[in-house]
Amino acid sequence: MSIKKEIQRRRTFGIISHPDAGKTTLTEKLLLFGGAIQVAGAVKSNKIKKGATSDFMEIERQRGISVATSVMGFEYEGYKVNILDTPGHKDFAEDTYRTLTAVDSVIIVIDAAKGVEAQTRKLMEVCRMRRTPVIVFINKMDRPALDPFELLDDVEKELEIEVCPLSWPISNGPDFRGVFNIYEQKLNLFTSEDKQRLGSSREITDIFSGEADKFIQPHATTLKEDLELASGGYPAFERNDYLSATLAPVFFGSALNNFGVQDLLDCFLDIAPSPGNTVAHERTVNSGEERFTGFVFKIHANMDPNHRDRLAFVKVCSGAFERNKAYFHSRSGKTLKFSSPTAFMAEKKSIVDKAWPGDIIGLHDTGNFKIGDTLTEGEKLNFKGIPSFSPEFFRYVENADPLKFKQLAKGLDHLMDEGVAQLFINQANGRKIIGTVGPLQFDVIQFRLQHEYGASCRYELLNLYKACWMESFSKAQLEDFKMRKIHNMAYDKQGRDVFLAESAYALQMAREKFPNIKFHFISEY
Ligand code: G4P
Repeated sequence: MSIKKEIQRRRTFGIISHPDAGKTTLTEKLLLFGGAIQVAGAVKSNKIKKGATSDFMEIERQRGISVATSVMGFEYEGYKVNILDTPGHKDFAEDTYRTLTAVDSVIIVIDAAKGVEAQTRKLMEVCRMRRTPVIVFINKMDRPALDPFELLDDVEKELEIEVCPLSWPISNGPDFRGVFNIYEQKLNLFTSEDKQRLGSSREITDIFSGEADKFIQPHATTLKEDLELASGGYPAFERNDYLSATLAPVFFGSALNNFGVQDLLDCFLDIAPSPGNTVAHERTVNSGEERFTGFVFKIHANMDPNHRDRLAFVKVCSGAFERNKAYFHSRSGKTLKFSSPTAFMAEKKSIVDKAWPGDIIGLHDTGNFKIGDTLTEGEKLNFKGIPSFSPEFFRYVENADPLKFKQLAKGLDHLMDEGVAQLFINQANGRKIIGTVGPLQFDVIQFRLQHEYGASCRYELLNLYKACWMESFSKAQLEDFKMRKIHNMAYDKQGRDVFLAESAYALQMAREKFPNIKFHFISEY
C-alpha cells in the first residue's frame, strides 16, 4: 500500500473527560464495536481506582498495567485506529496534555446529568491551543439527564465552540429508548441484555413511519419537534469546519448500555482527520513526506528496578519508520538504531518492522530520550511540543541520605525528563523546588527515587500560588523586579526566569507595579 493510502486510513485520537464521565467505558465499547476485543473489561484494569487518591503503591501497580493499554491500535473496516489513552486522574493531567500533542483529533465525553465539568474545560483549552478537531459524546443518557438543548448550549458556551448535533436522544433516564442518527438519518434501537457484549440493533430509516412510532411512543412527537428545532437552530454539519476546529459534532448515548456508540464510531471514522502536518521550530512537516520524522511524547520507566531501561512512545509524523534503520536524534546529534520497536494493538504488544504516520511505536531507551525529542533521517528538526503549565503544588526537595547525593540528582533528572513533575531552582538560595499538578506526585517521586535509584529525599512545604513565566517589554523593569523579588525568583529546567507568586494578591500587585512585565501561567505564550 502506498504511503498516501496508509495515511488516509489512519485515525489517531484521544478520549478525554472529567473523571467518571465514562471515558474508560466508552474506550472499551469502541474497542468492542471495532472488533478489537470480544468482552469489555480490558481497559478497566488500567484505570486508577477512585479510592486510590493517596495510595501510590496502587498507582505503581497501575502504571505497570497501563503500558500495555496506553495505546490501543486496531484494524476496523479498512481503517487503522489508534486510541491514545489519557489518565483520568487529575493529578496526572500533565500526562494528558502531552498525549494530546500526539493525537490528530479528540473525543470529549460529557456526563449528561452534569454537563461540562472543570477538567473538561481545561483539556479543551489544550485542544483549542493546538486547533485539534473535537467530537463530543454526551454519555449516560440512560440516567436522568439535562435537556438536550440545555446540554448543547452548555457545551457551546463552556467549551467555546460552535456545536452541531449529529445524533439525538429519545428521552432519558429509565425511559431512554436510543438515539436518532442525524448524520445518517436513521433510528437505532438497541437491546442491552448483556452490556459487556454487542447487542443487536434495529435500523429504521423513516422515523415518520408508523413502524418507528410503536417503538418510541410516547416520545415520537417530541422527537420530531426536537429534530425540527435542532435543524433550524444549529449550523449544518460542514466537515471543513470540524477539521479546522471551529465546529464540534455532538453525539448522545450511553456507553454502558451500548446506545449511540456504533453511530459515533462510524461517523468518527468517516469524518475524523488522518495525520496531517506537524509543526517544527524549523519548518512544517507534512505526513506524506517520504522521509521519516517522529517525536517522543511519553516516556515510561521500567517497573523492574534492576533494569533501568525505559520505553519512549514515539508518534510517526512523516514517512515510514523501519526497524534496524539508523535514525538521527536531533537534540544530541547521535545516531540511534532500534532492533525491537513495539507496536501496540488492543490486547497485545508486538515487535513492528514498519510503522506509518499516525502510528505510535514504543522504543526501548537507555537514557537518550526526553519528552519532546525529535527523530529524523538526518535533518536537524525539533518538533514543537506542548508548553509547560504552572504547577499547583510546590515543595523544596532535599537529599535525605548524604551518601546518595549523586543517585538523587540522577533520579530527579530522569523523572523530570519523563515529565513526572517540574523542577525549579530558587535563584536566591539555589535550592531545588518540585512543582506538580497534584499532591500524589510527591509520593510517586519519593517512592520511585527510592526503588529505582536507591535515593531518598525529604520535602519541605512551600506555600505558593503559581509559577509564572515572564515576558518583559522593559529590560530595566525586569532587572528591577528580579532584584526586589529575588527570593521568589527561580529558573525552570531550560534556565528561563520564573516568578513564584505566593498568592493571587502578590501576583496582582506585581502586575500593577510592573506593567511592562507580563506574567504567564504557561511556558510558551
Ligand atoms: P472515567 O473513565 O471517565 O472516569 O469513567 P468510567 O468509564 O470509569 O465510568 C464512571 C462510572 O460511570 C462507572 O461506574 C461506569 O460504569 C459508569 N458509566 C459509564 N457510562 C455510563 C452510562 O452510559 N450509563 C450509566 N448509567 N453509567 C455509566 P462505577 O460505578 O463508578 O464503576 P463500575 O463499578 O460500574 O465499574
